Amino acid sequence: MADPLLFRPFRMRDTEVRNRLWVSPMCQYSADAQDGMPTDWHLAHLGGLARGGAGMVIMEATGVVPEGRISPFCLGLWNDAQEAAFARLAEIVHGHGAKLAVQLGHAGRKASTHPWMPGGPEGSVPVSAGGWPTVAPSAVAFDDLAEPRALDSDELPGLVRAFVDAASRAVRAGLDAVEIHAAHGYLLHQFLSPLSNFRTDAYGGSLENRARLLREVVGAVRAEHPALPVLVRISATDWIPGGFELHEAQQVAVWIAEDGADLVDCSTGGNAPSAPIPVGPSYQVHCAAAVREGGIPTGAVGLITEAAQAEGILATGQADVVLLGRALLRDPHLPLRWAHELRAPGADALVPRQYWRARF
Ligand code: FNR
Repeated sequence: MADPLLFRPFRMRDTEVRNRLWVSPMCQYSADAQDGMPTDWHLAHLGGLARGGAGMVIMEATGVVPEGRISPFCLGLWNDAQEAAFARLAEIVHGHGAKLAVQLGHAGRKASTHPWMPGGPEGSVPVSAGGWPTVAPSAVAFDDLAEPRALDSDELPGLVRAFVDAASRAVRAGLDAVEIHAAHGYLLHQFLSPLSNFRTDAYGGSLENRARLLREVVGAVRAEHPALPVLVRISATDWIPGGFELHEAQQVAVWIAEDGADLVDCSTGGNAPSAPIPVGPSYQVHCAAAVREGGIPTGAVGLITEAAQAEGILATGQADVVLLGRALLRDPHLPLRWAHELRAPGADALVPRQYWRARF
């Protein structure tokens, strides 16, 4: 058996990641209430994932401004205290040989929600329970959430600045990369999609206009940080005709690659509650393959649960890295197991010294 691709290093600019099996960003809803600060949960959770052998751990969607958080218990990266706490997270993850990225986001009209807030409401979290009024490209609600306020065009430069400032904080905290969250129906995806963007200014209408804000964010982060690996997560399709479609995603990927993105992490959906998503093994991988045809490296994600399946995605040239979510929550040590299963050189070295008696 040839050396598996999954356990070969992957390079973005000057940063080398030890393998191509990465942790997909996953909200933990466990920040200290209202201040976006990581807690002991994040130390243990992220440390455990890094110890399990993943190449890069991408932290959960993290608000670039307070009102950009998904929930009152989501992380933020807009102040010095958060920056200092992120530095500690980077130390822990680096101690296990993995790289740490943060997913920088703004939830737009899907902000101020919570899937399991104790005693919490369905739908939007009211201001009385720590929620806040939301903003979006247009004043159109998602499903039964509160109606957002349409952003004025003169507010957009401040938003771009907030992404850049958060990226700068990530760099100062010693993180290795940032991922711009432009997927799952959050703000930048809301701009990309005709299902949520009804603007008549330079940020709505044509694909070029709908992609403008994302391009400005990517370009501004790249201008400020020439060496920083910048990933972008997109929803490559809304799964609804007339929504954001895969051919548009292919064009947007070409543009953001020109603007300085290093890798497009290809997810789907999240902007239309009724979208008929054909969920099943590898159901989003064709999107990573289609985007990769444009020449930019891609990440594949979504119901990838077997070593041979993940290796096959790389071997057939559909993606450059594979991201796992739930499979790693179930078993953070899955990369160690797969390295053994695929007979990767260095599989034993991936096992922490302290666990030497438990090598596979
Ligand atoms: C997610 N997902 C997600 N995606 C994202 O871009 N930012 C996020 O913060 C989150 N949060 C999150 C929390 C939890 C608990 C889950 C299970 C998922 C989506 C995730 O990154 C991934 O794309 C999907 O879960 C599909 O991959 P798996 O789980 O099938 O490997």
